[in-house]
Amino acid sequence: MSEINPTLVSRYFEGVKTSILGPYMMDGYGFPNSAGDYRFKAETQIVESLLNGVDRDGAVLDLGCGVGYWAEAFAQEFSSVVAVEGSANLYDALVTRCLPYPNIQSVHSNVLRFQPKGDFSLTFLGGLLMYLDEDDVVGLLGNLKKHLKPGGIILCRESTVRGDTLSLTGDYSVVYRSIENYRRIFKNSGLAVRVIEQNEPYVLLQMGCELMDKWKALTPKPFQMLPLMGRLAYWGLRAMNPWILNVPKTFETPFPILENHFFVLEAIDQTE
Ligand SMILES: C[S@@+](CC[C@H](N)C(=O)[O-])C[C@H]1O[C@@H](n2cnc3c(N)ncnc32)[C@H](O)[C@@H]1O
Repeated sequence: MSEINPTLVSRYFEGVKTSILGPYMMDGYGFPNSAGDYRFKAETQIVESLLNGVDRDGAVLDLGCGVGYWAEAFAQEFSSVVAVEGSANLYDALVTRCLPYPNIQSVHSNVLRFQPKGDFSLTFLGGLLMYLDEDDVVGLLGNLKKHLKPGGIILCRESTVRGDTLSLTGDYSVVYRSIENYRRIFKNSGLAVRVIEQNEPYVLLQMGCELMDKWKALTPKPFQMLPLMGRLAYWGLRAMNPWILNVPKTFETPFPILENHFFVLEAIDQTE
């Protein structure tokens, strides 16, 4: 059974804003753009530690790269980057962002139809697998595995749930899987999980998104004052960071509903 409606996924991403908040799903809450910058910078520090030992002389493949913030960061560290994006809207912004970087090749394509050329030290999937059916994930990862350089890794950053898989239907089509479910899928794709790390900056801002969702549901539109309330929520959470992240664990509250994890994967035969 299909978990994902690809038409709805592409319609959604054709409509998002090309700011840093858009592809991060943080638009419409009244957060300042600096919230996106904060999340990106904090995530780059986590990624930097996860890339320890990865050959910087090699190439990077960034699939579902959005407007290219990550592609730009990788281009400054690795020899070259192939950045693939399916939305024409985001692809145009990607091309503009990458103009100063002759070592980035931008490709407008569905990742399921894209055939990589050559081998990569790093393949980055930043929030992509949650828009693909399980069969497609297994097929895609199995193919990407064949294009890993010796010692190369696949790094995924995916939104996750604590319990059963949650598929959203309606205008926004997405599937949120548990860590255990991803472990099974990665194994079926011939990949070993080297590291799983919680994406704390995501979780912090997801608390803000879910609080603002509640505020929007309870407050009539004319009284929502999103630019004010979104900024209050954002700066309040920043002020309470990092101890606020322990609150759900301490009180065993499933809040926020969504979490997010980095998964470092390598070819199974490489670990044997
Ligand atoms: C959550 S956004 C993440 C963007 C970027 N990786 C980042 O971390 O900022 C997911 C991206 O994947 C792209 N995408 C989703 N499904 C795709 C597909 N089948 N082919 C190509 N791109 C896809 C979307 O257009 C969107 O840009």
